[in-house]
Amino acid sequence: MPKIMAEGKTFEVAEGTNLREALLEHDIDLYSNGAQIFNCHGHSVCGTCMVKVEGAVSEPTKLETTRMSFPPNSGHKDRRLSCQVQVLGDVRVTKFEGHFGEGEESFWTPEQGVIKATAGVS
Ligand code: FES
Repeated sequence: MPKIMAEGKTFEVAEGTNLREALLEHDIDLYSNGAQIFNCHGHSVCGTCMVKVEGAVSEPTKLETTRMSFPPNSGHKDRRLSCQVQVLGDVRVTKFEGHFGEGEESFWTPEQGVIKATAGVS
């Protein structure tokens, strides 16, 4: 079974698992404080579930490609909308600062939990 490493935790999921759902089920801080309530719940509209994903995952969906073409998500070629990602093998996930995860500094990494308590607040 594929392993996900995120926010200092490692857990197994079934192949094909939706990355957003897996992160939320394991209490990973996927969203900034503001986006915890106001997000699109996985419909590729809000863009706030953006993370860097390293490993075997599905190709971007048409919906994801469209949303990622708008600021502030655009320009982050190393990042994905977790709600549109299927886990196909072991993956490492990093969340960046900012409401959308559009910052340059890490909010958390595969090996480390939240780095700065206020980093995800926008
Ligand atoms: S949850 Fe809104 S784009 Fe992924």
